[in-house]
Amino acid sequence: MGITSLMGTTMSQLRIFALITFVCVALWGCSAKEKPQLTAAQEQAVAERIAPEGHVVKAGQVVAVAAAGAARSGSDIYASNCLACHASGVAGAPILGDVAAWTDRLSKGIETVYSNAINGINMMPARGTCASCSDDEVIAAIDYILDNSK
Ligand code: HEC
Repeated sequence: MGITSLMGTTMSQLRIFALITFVCVALWGCSAKEKPQLTAAQEQAVAERIAPEGHVVKAGQVVAVAAAGAARSGSDIYASNCLACHASGVAGAPILGDVAAWTDRLSKGIETVYSNAINGINMMPARGTCASCSDDEVIAAIDYILDNSK
């Protein structure tokens, strides 16, 4: 095998290599230019995943959590967790706006009223079933009830 034929082999191998490289780069270039097609639902899902914690708001439902420092107001907590019983007096619950009933409750001291609601008392479930409520949020809801019952 002479030096010329060796060179020839090398040159044709180089050409094939160059061709393969060219095809690969061309294919990669085309696919990279293609914008991924997302449905509206997928875009929403991506937006939620990359959104800062505690700022995701779904239709009518605030997902902001107490841990993120976004405490919910007393009236929010009342509306979503307490109103069901305390608006109509379910199971003997003292009704919002019933001044006499709440004045009577307060006679044992506001701290006791707070802790009874947090820990539960008789038919009153602990935290009014709001497991995600912090103590301060339950207390804010009680203050909201009391402010509207005097
Ligand atoms: C499943 C019905 C129900 C829900 C929901 C509920 N309560 Fe009550 N609550 C009661 C009943 C019944 C009582 C009366 C308990 C008793 O003294 O026998 C009561 C009593 C209370 C009292 C008075 C406690 C005391 O020491 O006299 C407070 C304060 C209170 N609830 C706050 C709340 C708050 C705040 C929420 C929402 C976070 C809530 N409740 C949700 C049924 C409910």
